[in-house]
Amino acid sequence: MSLTEQVELEELQARVKAARRITVLTGAGMSAESGIPTFRDAMTGLWSQFDPAELASDEGYRAAPARVWAWYAERRSGVRAAHPNAGHLALAAFARHHPGVLTVVTQNVDDLHQRAGNADTIRLHGDILEDRWLDPCPRRGGPPCDPGWARPATAARPPMCSDCGHLVRPGVVWFGENLPLQALNDAEHAADTAELMLVVGTSGAVWPAAGLAARARRAGAWVAIVNPHPTEIDTDADQRVRGTAAGVLPLLFSGV
Ligand code: OAD
Repeated sequence: MSLTEQVELEELQARVKAARRITVLTGAGMSAESGIPTFRDAMTGLWSQFDPAELASDEGYRAAPARVWAWYAERRSGVRAAHPNAGHLALAAFARHHPGVLTVVTQNVDDLHQRAGNADTIRLHGDILEDRWLDPCPRRGGPPCDPGWARPATAARPPMCSDCGHLVRPGVVWFGENLPLQALNDAEHAADTAELMLVVGTSGAVWPAAGLAARARRAGAWVAIVNPHPTEIDTDADQRVRGTAAGVLPLLFSGV
């Protein structure tokens, strides 16, 4: 690390210490050091090997449900086998010691922030471990069928309701779908009220999440990006720290 980088990091550390409201917006790079692949990193990113139109859209799922379900089942196994890294743990420890200061907003569909201890993480893109009906349950005059009752997947089809024949889908937001409204409202509020926003491990390619950095800055926050590579929203930030989540976040948050 150069002397300038060292000084900038120390200044950011001082901002973390002083801020009464901190929002951390995370993306796939946050979980990269836990072994979960990102989407857009060249070579290793999921979208460098797979077509998002086929695997992350309603049309793609309906066209090849068994194949798409199998892909999500494999990703679910990866998430279940992964552990929070030093970055997740540093954020959780800070939140424990400074109640009411930190809000974590994530685009990640894994549960590593929650497992680290940030139970109230705002999830903009859903939860890959959640089961949802692909179509609304048609049952009338009683409670809707619960996706947990579905018949397990086979090689030929995803889990299916034995009552209505409906298919289960993963609880993630696909391309073309709206973000969960409450989560988006909460995230915008967290951007509007932050004194400091850290944007960690996101390429800034997907909206509306990517717009939260500029929104926070307009509202008066100091915005710092933590990423080993340039992002599409670098110019929306006051500061760029070139490093990884598990490397930089413990330096910023531990012992504060
Ligand atoms: P991307 O894959 O687009 O970007 C990952 C970012 O993480 C890149 O900028 C990398 O440089 C950075 N990165 C890689 N390793 C890192 C590390 N160890 N520490 C810090 N940063 C690192 O992922 P997202 O920006 O999260 O949508 O993608 C946004 C959305 O696009 C995702 O939520 C997903 C995808 O389609 C849904 O799942 C709905």
